[in-house]
Amino acid sequence: MPDSKIYDKAIDIIAKRRFDARINYENNYKNAEEKIPEIIEINRQLANTSLELFNIIKAGGINMDKRIEALKIHNLQAQQMVENLLMQNNFPRDYLNIKYSCNICSDTGFVQNSRCKCLQELISRLSVNMLNSHSQIKLCSFNTFNLDYYRNITSPEGTNCYESMSQILNYCMEYAHRFTLDSKSIFMLGNTGLGKTHLSLSIAEKVIEKGYNVLYDSIINYLRQIEKEHFGRDSTGADTLGLLLDADLIILDDLGSEHDTSFYVSIIYNIINTRLNKGLPTIINTNLTPQEIENKYEARLVSRLFAMYDYLKFMGNDIRHIKKRKGEF
Ligand SMILES: Nc1ncnc2c1ncn2[C@@H]1O[C@H](COP(=O)(O)OP(=O)(O)OP(=O)(O)O)[C@@H](O)[C@H]1O
Ligand SMILES: [Mg+2]
Ligand SMILES: [Zn+2]
Repeated sequence: MPDSKIYDKAIDIIAKRRFDARINYENNYKNAEEKIPEIIEINRQLANTSLELFNIIKAGGINMDKRIEALKIHNLQAQQMVENLLMQNNFPRDYLNIKYSCNICSDTGFVQNSRCKCLQELISRLSVNMLNSHSQIKLCSFNTFNLDYYRNITSPEGTNCYESMSQILNYCMEYAHRFTLDSKSIFMLGNTGLGKTHLSLSIAEKVIEKGYNVLYDSIINYLRQIEKEHFGRDSTGADTLGLLLDADLIILDDLGSEHDTSFYVSIIYNIINTRLNKGLPTIINTNLTPQEIENKYEARLVSRLFAMYDYLKFMGNDIRHIKKRKGEF
């Protein structure tokens, strides 16, 4: 979860960028002065310019503007001479310009006391990595999803579980394979231990491989974090809600495990609705029944989930339980 460590880390990374830029600049300077000694004298003159400028302004007088203008021209000519010398000696023209990663803030992370875009982006990127590193994303993949667990089981409604789950597996593999930002949203329902989290993480793994950014966590973790940030108990500047609204794919696991507070309900609605409006895909898992979902959530949320999402009904016997019995956990 984003915390002050992320902010500190982002500041460290930016400080390191600034440091590297300076070191690089100083090395280039040394290098250039060694190969082209004339540059030393020109630079000494250039360094005097600001002192001269100060003296002109201090002295004032009628000709001040003209003298400043002359100084500027002189300055530009000197810079031009340095550039020419550099190029004559096979250096790039901008060899002696300090090169920051971010030209907006010169790698300070701030512009007039506000966070620069580069700092904000870094915090977001670090938050995404942090969120995913908490998950079991690496443990679940399509390769380890075994259909044998569903063999010879008929659901209470009389459906062949093996066939249904084969279709679900194929659907998920196709989904991951063909994933784009226009992909549909998925609503996975079913009792505990049937593979909902396993298949969502399998999708996540493939989609991340394709270079998309994916957020996965249980909905309750996200809501708690958003609550902390919203009510000022997290001053890191992390914006979990913003990340969830913008990520290429998000997976909200265990819908229904959260408390019924109006704050939570409004956040869930906001996420679902905003992402639908933007056309961005979302995967939601729950072990609530459709009836329980209708009872727990307001109609505008329920109707979106059932009408706009592809609906996958998981069935079979609790695999967590089977694995435990076999001593596989
Ligand atoms: N078809 C499968 N093949 C192999 N392992 C599976 C399969 N389905 C589930 N598992 C494993 O069983 C355990 C429970 O599955 P999972 O967490 O995906 O269930 P779930 O449907 O998300 O349950 P819950 O509703 O309780 O969150 C996990 O360790 C998962 O890796
Ligand atoms: Mg689960
Ligand atoms: Zn910047």
